[in-house]
Amino acid sequence: MNYRHIFHAGNFADVTKHVVLALLLKSLHNKTTPFCYLDTHAGAGRYDLASEAAQKTGECLDGIQRLWDTQTPPELAEYLAVVRAQNSAGALRYYPGSPVIARYFLRPQDRMVLLERQADECAKLQSTFAGNRQVTVRVQDGYAGLKAYLPPKEKRGLVLIDPPYESDREYEQVVEGLKVAHDRWSSGIYALWYPIKTRPPVERFHRALVATGIRKMLLAEFAPYPEDTSFRLNGCGMIVINPPWMLEETLQTLLPQLLKLLQSQSTGRSRLAWLVPE
Ligand SMILES: C[S@@+](CC[C@H](N)C(=O)[O-])C[C@H]1O[C@@H](n2cnc3c(N)ncnc32)[C@H](O)[C@@H]1O
Repeated sequence: MNYRHIFHAGNFADVTKHVVLALLLKSLHNKTTPFCYLDTHAGAGRYDLASEAAQKTGECLDGIQRLWDTQTPPELAEYLAVVRAQNSAGALRYYPGSPVIARYFLRPQDRMVLLERQADECAKLQSTFAGNRQVTVRVQDGYAGLKAYLPPKEKRGLVLIDPPYESDREYEQVVEGLKVAHDRWSSGIYALWYPIKTRPPVERFHRALVATGIRKMLLAEFAPYPEDTSFRLNGCGMIVINPPWMLEETLQTLLPQLLKLLQSQSTGRSRLAWLVPE
C-alpha cells in the first residue's frame, strides 16, 4: 500500500469532507452527554503544506488556499476556526486531518479512537496525541475496528470511514463494514467519503448501499470538474447515515456557495439528496 495523504492534504475533497465533519461534530454538542468519535482510516493527523510532497502536487491551491483570504459563508466558520488554530502565525502552512479536527470538538467528557494501518503514519498520530487520555491511537485495520469498538459505551457519536480507494474492492469493504457496524450500532452517525472520477462505479456503490436496507442515508456530492475522465479526481461524495437535525438544510445552502469558491470554471455541480429516506 503506497497511499500517502500528504500529497492530497487540503485539496477540494479534503475541504468538502472536513466541512461536513465539522458540522457533524458540532451537532454532537447539542447534548451534554458524552460522545465517541471513531476514525477508521485516520491518516497522519496533520500535514505540512510546505513539505516537498505537498508542494509537488500543489492540490491545496484549489482547496483550502482558496478559502484562506476571502469572504466565506458563516456555515464555514467552525471548520475554518480549526484550520486557523493550526496556523497561529497567520499564513496558511499546516492543514489539519480528520483526527486534529475531531480533537478540536472534543469536550472533557468525550473521547476518540483513531485507527490507521500504516505504522509510520500512525506514529505521527501517536506523537501528536501523546499523553492525551481522551484519545486512543492504534495501528489497526479500520474495518476490524468497526467490530472491536462499536457500539461505544457512550451510545452517542460519529464514525468516519475514509479509505483511500486504491482498489475497486474498497467499495465492497466499505459496504460490508458499514453493514457490520450498523448491525452492532444502528443509532450512530456514520459518514462515508468516496471519490468521483466517472459515474458507473459511483452508481454501483450507491446501489450496494441501498441494498443493505439501512435507512436515513443523506447523500452530498461535490464535483468542481466534469466527470469525463477517470484519470483525475473530479469530485467526491459523502454519505451521512442518521444525519443530525438541520444538516440537510445547512448543506443545501452551503454546497452551492462552496462550489462557487472552489470551481475553476462554471462546469462544477453539487447535489444533495436522500439516497434512502427515513
Ligand atoms: C484518505 S486517508 C485518511 C485521511 C484522514 N481521514 C483525514 O481526513 O485527514 C486514508 C488513510 O487510510 C489508511 N488505510 C488504508 N487502508 C486502511 C485500513 N484497512 N485500515 C486502516 N487504515 C487504512 C491509509 O494509510 C491512509 O492514511
